[in-house]
Amino acid sequence: MKRTTVKKALSLKAGEELVNLKGWVRTKRGSKHVSFIALNDGSTINNIQVVAEDAISEEVLKIIHTGASLSVVGKLVQSQGSGQAIELLAESIEVLGIADPDEYPLQPKKHSLEFLRENAHLRFRTNTFSAIFRIRHAMTFAVHSFFNSKGFSNIHTPIITGSDCEGAGEMFAVSTLDKKNTPLTEEGDIDYTQDFFGKETNLTVSGQLEAEMAALALGKVYTFGPTFRAENSNTSRHLAEFWMIEPEVAFADLEEDMDLAEEMLQYLCTYALENCTDDLDFLDKRLFEEEKNKKKEERQELGLIEKIKFVAENDFERITYTEAYDILRNSKPNKKKKFQYLIEEWGTDFQSEHERYLVEKKFKKPVIITDYPKDIKAFYMRMNDDGKTVRAMDVLFPGIGEIIGGSQREERLDVLKSRMAEMDVLEHELSWYLDSRKFGSVPHSGFGLGFERLILFVTGMGNIRDVIPFPRTPNNADF
Ligand code: 4AD
Ligand code: MG
Repeated sequence: MKRTTVKKALSLKAGEELVNLKGWVRTKRGSKHVSFIALNDGSTINNIQVVAEDAISEEVLKIIHTGASLSVVGKLVQSQGSGQAIELLAESIEVLGIADPDEYPLQPKKHSLEFLRENAHLRFRTNTFSAIFRIRHAMTFAVHSFFNSKGFSNIHTPIITGSDCEGAGEMFAVSTLDKKNTPLTEEGDIDYTQDFFGKETNLTVSGQLEAEMAALALGKVYTFGPTFRAENSNTSRHLAEFWMIEPEVAFADLEEDMDLAEEMLQYLCTYALENCTDDLDFLDKRLFEEEKNKKKEERQELGLIEKIKFVAENDFERITYTEAYDILRNSKPNKKKKFQYLIEEWGTDFQSEHERYLVEKKFKKPVIITDYPKDIKAFYMRMNDDGKTVRAMDVLFPGIGEIIGGSQREERLDVLKSRMAEMDVLEHELSWYLDSRKFGSVPHSGFGLGFERLILFVTGMGNIRDVIPFPRTPNNADF
């Protein structure tokens, strides 16, 4: 018999036809003559209630516990109880896999997120995590759908690379050299000519530089791939391995870049609202319960769904770094020395406390900051006429801080070369990149959206480790 999913079954009417449902037991309760089994197969956050009466032997019922996997054949009937319209009256149950209640870590009670992180291989089986990962899928699909509808080509940029796009030097080495007997040059450095690629290579921090090459022929491209950063920041916003969406558009200036970023984020929010209703309802209630435990002044003003709607429907604020700097310097928390890092000198980077002040207190909506001081941004950003700032933009989100970083790119060969020299980026290592400015160079722009930060926003979760299946962070590469 062909399997019916729980999602499908819940949408059907009661009938005489036999159906076969398969899934995992969430809970089992009952009396001598009737057992009620909540069965979930991941197709929806909702369980179907399996009713097992005399047709099912006691031997079978005895070995059914939370976590066991079942194949149930029966009829869909009108539910007697409240809470569901339809339930499955079992005619036969096959236990596909048992789950010993003395050993199975997930019991039908509330587990802490920390506990579930330690059991990341099993946490998919909880309501919260199944909702998160269905939404993560929906967002992946929506990203491709958005760019496809706008005529972008998806480019797969390399994961192993010889260049450091962001120039921050926070890269993971890729090497097949014998660690115990590393070949050395006469100067005593590691001799990478003997390594697999004949040169030093790392895991990429960004696909941007390669995406630019494609954009300067295909016009509009985007990458959506894993990126890696060996930065030792143990925060709720950083992963060592995360996924990034990087569009790159030929002939576009920073204004068009910001328009694209805003349109994309609003599209993704709207997509979630329209296509992830059950999961969002569940997470909305979950967040509401969490907020109740917080002090009043720390509670978020909007619920999860309200917050997503708000972003989908309202224009983002756009200000320059210098305007943001003035606002922050004259702000109450700065004057009263409430910020951990006080805003004094023009030119320093903003910390997340500053970003959150602008977004959550000052403007109460997403903010795009542009034209940052050149010294705190990457070499490839286009220099402004003032010689001090570059055409950068960061999109800041409530509860998240920076969700997007992007810029108009420096298309002028001589300016790019002098920026590279200033920032110690070696010309001979990026000769291919410079070629694009020698041959048919055009103004172009792009940005990078941190996919997990988007998922944080859309799910209302507080820790980035909970929105990627198997997180990679300092001292943590289990599973
Ligand atoms: O601002 P970033 O470093 O920009 C770039 O990599 C550019 N090459 C993008 C481009 O213009 N094509 O990173 C972009 C975004 C950040 O705004 C943030 O959302 C996310 O990537 N991000 C991280 N997410 C999780 N963990 C980390 N360690 C992250 N570092 C950056
Ligand atoms: Mg950034």
